[in-house]
Amino acid sequence: HAFAQGVKGGKKISPDLFGLFFEDINYSADGGLYGELVQNRSFEYSPTDRREWHSFSFWQYITPGFSYGSLNIETTSPVHPNNPHYAVLNIEHLGDSGVGIRNDGFAKIPVKAGEKYHFSVFAKLLSQDPVNIVVSLQNPKGETLAESKIRVSSPDWQKYTTDLVVSATNDSTALVVLATTKGKLALDVVSLFPANTFKNRPNGLRADLAQLLADIHPKFIRFPGGCLAHGDGLGNMYRWKNTIGPIEQRVEQKNIWGYHQTAGLGYFEYFQFCEDIGAKPLPVLPAAVSCQNSGGTWRIGGTGQKAIDMSEMQDYIQEVLDLVEWANGPAASTWGAKRAAAGHPAPFNLQYVGIGNEDKITPEFEQRFKMIYDAVKAKHPEITVIGTVGPFPEGEDFDKGWKLANTLQVPVVDEHYYSAPEWFISNQYRYDTYKRNATKVYIGEYASRGNKMKNALAEAAYMTAIERNGDVVSLASYAPLLAKSGFTQWNPDMIYFDNTSAYPTVNYYVQQLFSVNQGDTYFENVVSKNPADSALAASCVQDSKTGDVILKLVNAGPEQGSMKINLSAFGKLDAAAAKTVLNGSPEAANVFGSAAAVTPVTSAFNAAKTFEYTAPPMSLTVIRVRKK
Ligand code: AHR
Repeated sequence: HAFAQGVKGGKKISPDLFGLFFEDINYSADGGLYGELVQNRSFEYSPTDRREWHSFSFWQYITPGFSYGSLNIETTSPVHPNNPHYAVLNIEHLGDSGVGIRNDGFAKIPVKAGEKYHFSVFAKLLSQDPVNIVVSLQNPKGETLAESKIRVSSPDWQKYTTDLVVSATNDSTALVVLATTKGKLALDVVSLFPANTFKNRPNGLRADLAQLLADIHPKFIRFPGGCLAHGDGLGNMYRWKNTIGPIEQRVEQKNIWGYHQTAGLGYFEYFQFCEDIGAKPLPVLPAAVSCQNSGGTWRIGGTGQKAIDMSEMQDYIQEVLDLVEWANGPAASTWGAKRAAAGHPAPFNLQYVGIGNEDKITPEFEQRFKMIYDAVKAKHPEITVIGTVGPFPEGEDFDKGWKLANTLQVPVVDEHYYSAPEWFISNQYRYDTYKRNATKVYIGEYASRGNKMKNALAEAAYMTAIERNGDVVSLASYAPLLAKSGFTQWNPDMIYFDNTSAYPTVNYYVQQLFSVNQGDTYFENVVSKNPADSALAASCVQDSKTGDVILKLVNAGPEQGSMKINLSAFGKLDAAAAKTVLNGSPEAANVFGSAAAVTPVTSAFNAAKTFEYTAPPMSLTVIRVRKK
């Protein structure tokens, strides 16, 4: 596989090649990308999430200043049937202070001096006279850093809002909601958001994390998983209709990764975020079977039933079709109207829908997948359905999944693999032999089991092969994306974060360099190297919009490596090019909590028609040459 000399033509490759895989794993959504600062805001945590959790987890009942009363969790008259639990506060005696509740957020609530925070709560008066409430943010010493007041006066559920402006930066505050007059009231959906969410969206995303994702300029975002999509049994599937509309009406549930999903970051917010950063939405819906197609009784709703009953399949298929209407239908359509009511009358321009995730390819699966696929194809030929094959190279489901995809002529299937860096280096030719005019591939999850330079460069070498095979591979996304320190179920990940900071790994920078330098035409014969040097890999693409020619030159070895570049077939190019280099020792890594050890460095580069490039040991170089 030496690269020959001279350039002719070029082949069209997918314009959507590199994107993001977002799964609510490692506290990626609640406590992560989702901006909500209150944990268990709706009192819906339960032992189903985690054995020791209950509806008052992460709350404290407080009676400062010798006050007393009572706190109960009730369900008789909720704000919405989807959100059954709420807190009832009875203030019987006012000492020097009040009776209330306190929330420590997701391992405390970080706030910044001078910044504004939006507080809201649903409340209902259960006694005669209005009840005054003081809402405050308190530091660990109990000092107040921000304070505001509301007065609950309605005997019906009503939303009350107020803003808190913080006097001093503190990473460890608690939210205190204190009733300061006698009486009785019900409280639910106690919420606190920074005012400066990403693009200032209400119910929005944490700005720094969202910006890091935006900075990748992904062509698509896949969500909400991963295994989270089909959940932990039939009763735990991610049902998109439960995750749109007002947050107090969404259905919360156990997160398969051992915590809780509020669905506050739901389909509306995913689609909105995609639009905000110019990425195509790629929702993955369950194929009507549960995780690994198991119906074991240990699973949620696990009655032994592995798949949605045939008698309910038409309803389930309609649910899938309704998603297309919700995303793309006119605002006057039944589901388009719900999108419009949420504040987005224009269509979201959905193009891809994934059906299934790493499922076992059993007869139950095959039957249901075909029913869903046929229905979407018939009603929405404009939608590209992405099927699933089991993880590679672990299982027989991979082969069975491909067989099914070939039989049904599914446009794209989702391949997953987590493997050692050596695997990625030695499998670079994997797609060279795939059939060109058959089912295409979405590499929906891949990673080389580490966050060191040797991992990132193995992935970079592999990504040059993905570009070379961009006529067969339509989409690719590294996985998983986000991980909260101390709350991580899966390593490695692309970005590690805590409540206040985020640490992009070296793998992040590889993804970013490929993503911001995508092209739509691949050229075979631009780069040549010594065929014996297996540490070197390269690709050349052109972006037809700008005419820019982009070289990606990978040296995954310990010695410097030479590559010859021939740009003579591209016509007039500007010699004043840009070169970006990411390099570091094989063991170098950007470690959580420390300043980044390795980041890309961009400098001017003089590009001749033909030149020899000496790639530093352990490096990725991107050279971008402009058309004259
Ligand atoms: O990325 C983590 C998990 O790996 C995904 O949920 C699943 O699809 C895969 O097995």
